Formats: sequence, structure tokens, C-alpha cells
Amino acid sequence: MPTAMPRSMVAGNWKMNTTLAEAVQLAAGVRDGVAALNGLAGVDVVLCPPHISLQAVAEAVKGSAVKVGAQNMHYEASGAFTGEVSPAMVQGMCDYVILGHSERRQLFGETDDLVNRKVKAAFEYGIKPIFCVGETLEQRESGRASEIIGGQVRAGLDGVGDISGLVVAYEPVWAIGTGQAATPEVAAEIMGGALRDALGSLFGPAAAAIPLLYGGSVNAGNVESFAAQDSIHGSLVGGASLQAEPFLEIARLTAQAKASL
Ligand code: PGA
Repeated sequence: MPTAMPRSMVAGNWKMNTTLAEAVQLAAGVRDGVAALNGLAGVDVVLCPPHISLQAVAEAVKGSAVKVGAQNMHYEASGAFTGEVSPAMVQGMCDYVILGHSERRQLFGETDDLVNRKVKAAFEYGIKPIFCVGETLEQRESGRASEIIGGQVRAGLDGVGDISGLVVAYEPVWAIGTGQAATPEVAAEIMGGALRDALGSLFGPAAAAIPLLYGGSVNAGNVESFAAQDSIHGSLVGGASLQAEPFLEIARLTAQAKASL
């Protein structure tokens, strides 16, 4: 029994793309585009640039409806962690932080336990986690997608009490950057099934208010079919977020699809 309809969100994960100048230009383009659309009623637009551009992007979108997210962070406030960036450092520059992205898990060895520490640190610092889960192709083909997603959710969110601000993204690894998006039905099966169930078992009825994003090869051509699903509240967009126009179109189509549900 849903308590409140989750808000919709379209978040752009720029990954390791954009120089400082390019980041500011892209952020300004999105800011102006959102303003020209008179805001996007009910859809939160979030830009997640590389750390080094966070401050400049935050400045560029200041006073607008556009919000900023970091792509990662350490869980400690400070210390001998060469090359890392702490929650205390990004706090004030961003509202959100992407945690547990499959590229972090796969390419940089992030475990469920590490992601869990980061999620808890985000809450401690008042930064809203966009917590990512997703199964590999091999896991899906061996019939373990639901089990993997349930496990990632329970481990990554273990010990979290207050979930206000939490956003969860389902990004099947086989759909990221491949041009091979999941079908809306496959995504909705997990998002309305194993993912929702795991969140419900952790947080009870309050879990119904957590926005769920689909991610993996989302573009302006397929976003409507995802946004039309009840169990999908928005998207986490990689490649198609690197230019203002397609990204704005994704946000506009999401607002339109959600308004007509
Ligand atoms: P993609 O990336 O849209 O380029 O597939 C999505 C993501 O990894 O967040």
C-alpha cells in the first residue's frame, strides 16, 4: 500500500567526461533548457559531473531548478586516502551522490560492504544517495537476477534507518553503455518485484516513497516506454546526458509520460 507517489527524477551521469569548460557549458545548456520549459513539474533534474567540476557546475545552476550530484565519494571525512574525495568535501557542492555504480563495483572493486559505508556516510552528511544495483549478463542468464538485486539492496542499505532522500537506480550491467537497453517489461519486473520487495522488507510501507530509476542505454527514443511503467519513476542517463538537447528531451518526455499516468 503506497504511502506517497515517489517524485520523478532524471539524473545525468557524465562519468569521466567533460573538461571544466565543457562541464560548465553543458550545465548552462541544461539550466537554460529547463528554464525554457518552465521547469519540469514533478521531475527533478540532476547533473552529476566529475568531482573536479562540481563546484563550477553548482555555481552554473545556482538559483535554478537543476540539482547537482557527485559520482562517488569516500566514507571517511578525511585522512590518508590518496586520490579520494570525502563527504565533507563534496557537501555543499551537491545534493546527491551516486553510490555503488556498477563501474565502481566492477572496475574499482567496490564491495557491498564498502558501498554500505558510503551510503551511511552520505546520510550522515545530508547528501542524498542515488544507490545503484544491477546484475551482470551471466547472473541474468543463470536465472539469478532477482536474487542478486535483493542481495545488493539488503547489503548496501543494511543498517540505514531514515531513508528520506534515498533514490535507488536499477542498472543491469549488460545494458550500460551497450546501446542494448533492457525492455521496459524486464526492468519493471525487477523494479516492481525483487527490488521493491527487498526495499519493503527493509523499510516497510515507507519504502513505497523511494523513487526508482532505470539506467542502461536510456535515450530520447526509449525513455517514454520506461517512464510509462508505474514502478519506474525516472532514469539515470549516461551517454545521452552528455549533450543538453537529448538530455532535456529525456526530461521533457519523462514529465509528459508521468503526467499522463
Ligand atoms: P548509459 O549509462 O546511459 O551510457 O548506458 C548509464 C549509467 O551507467 O548510469
